[in-house]
Amino acid sequence: MDRTLNPYAPGSGISPKALEGRDAEIESIDTIVARARHGLHSRAIVLSGLRGVGKTVLLNAFRLHAKQRDWITVPVEARSTETGRDSVRAKLARELVVAARSSKIERAGEAVKSAFGSITSFSASLGMSGVSLGVDRAVGRADSGVLEVDLEEMVTDVATAMKDKGLGFAIFVDEMQDLDEELLTALLAAQHAAGQDGLPFYVFGAGLPNLPSVLSEARSYAERLFEYRQIGPLVPDAARRALSRPAQEMGASFDDDALTRLVEAADGYPYFLQEYGKAVWDVAPARPFTLADAEAAVVVGTAQLDQGFFPARWDRATPGERAYLQAMARDGERGSRTSDVAIRLGRGLSSLGPTRSELIKKGLIYSPEHGRIAYTVPGMADFIRRQFTDQP
Ligand SMILES: Nc1ncnc2c1ncn2[C@@H]1O[C@H](COP(=O)(O)OP(=O)(O)O)[C@@H](O)[C@H]1O
Ligand SMILES: [Mg+2]
Repeated sequence: MDRTLNPYAPGSGISPKALEGRDAEIESIDTIVARARHGLHSRAIVLSGLRGVGKTVLLNAFRLHAKQRDWITVPVEARSTETGRDSVRAKLARELVVAARSSKIERAGEAVKSAFGSITSFSASLGMSGVSLGVDRAVGRADSGVLEVDLEEMVTDVATAMKDKGLGFAIFVDEMQDLDEELLTALLAAQHAAGQDGLPFYVFGAGLPNLPSVLSEARSYAERLFEYRQIGPLVPDAARRALSRPAQEMGASFDDDALTRLVEAADGYPYFLQEYGKAVWDVAPARPFTLADAEAAVVVGTAQLDQGFFPARWDRATPGERAYLQAMARDGERGSRTSDVAIRLGRGLSSLGPTRSELIKKGLIYSPEHGRIAYTVPGMADFIRRQFTDQP
């Protein structure tokens, strides 16, 4: 098929042509927005799951839904690197100003003026200057230099202005498990205060499966602040649509057994569905796509994953960390007991502590429960096996 028309979209955070199987989540955000119109507060939503299940695109869809209904929306992405702390603050400051500038909110009222003044102050205290919202900084508001205090004041002012209009203010944090402690607790405190005051401010988060526990460790009340949604692979019907709908839009279709084969190979994981969809489009000589096309696509798509999706994580590991990951592979996707990994490596459990925490920090593994660890990347065990059996 003509490659230039390939409708599939494998890649981190790249929106699919058809966002399938997430209707319940989309309905939740729409409900929050609709309730805000009546002055009603809801719990914000936190999405967690493995890499490639579609958390980022879902979080982006949430943001789009809120933005289209004139909410002030601010996207940020946390990073665990040394410079991540500064870059997330810079991004927060910049995006706040951008969101306020581009919002369709009528600027006449006092509440809006003071809200924009607080945004100006807050952004300035995060080190951003030179961009004007056409209002003066709010002196004595959101400018103490103490992040938690300033964030809460700014949030209160903006959310108060939005409440008058039946709208809301939301910050969307991707890779939230990597947020530094100071900013994380400030956001949680602001969310907590907004809930108590009935103000329409929301933090929507997305991250790895350990995100809910990261949040409760930061603040015990976090458990009650959010509706936690685990995002997993698509159910078979949704997975089939994720493949068939983009093709359909371009006038192509699948034989039934071809679709079944690809859904099975992808195990319902959105990233894999996109990669296999892209491959079948490229390898198929004609439409409809047949089982033979699907078989060829599994080979091509898997090779593509082995060059992109998996190495994106694997290449970040040091040789010692790779040995650790390899020792986990035998247990497959279920994850391993840390004590078993230590035995396999012939090492003491505590001497492996630093390796384990470094791998967690790099986002390659997480701890589903005490004494256990699992890959954050679906299919990692098979990838590792392929690496070590294909080599001479
Ligand atoms: N609901 C969905 N239906 C179809 N494709 C999806 C869906 N969610 C995500 N994808 C695709 O899966 C890939 C990974 O999505 P992404 O949001 O980056 O995952 P995550 O943030 O969980 O790692 C992207 O190529 C995206 O287009
Ligand atoms: Mg993501």
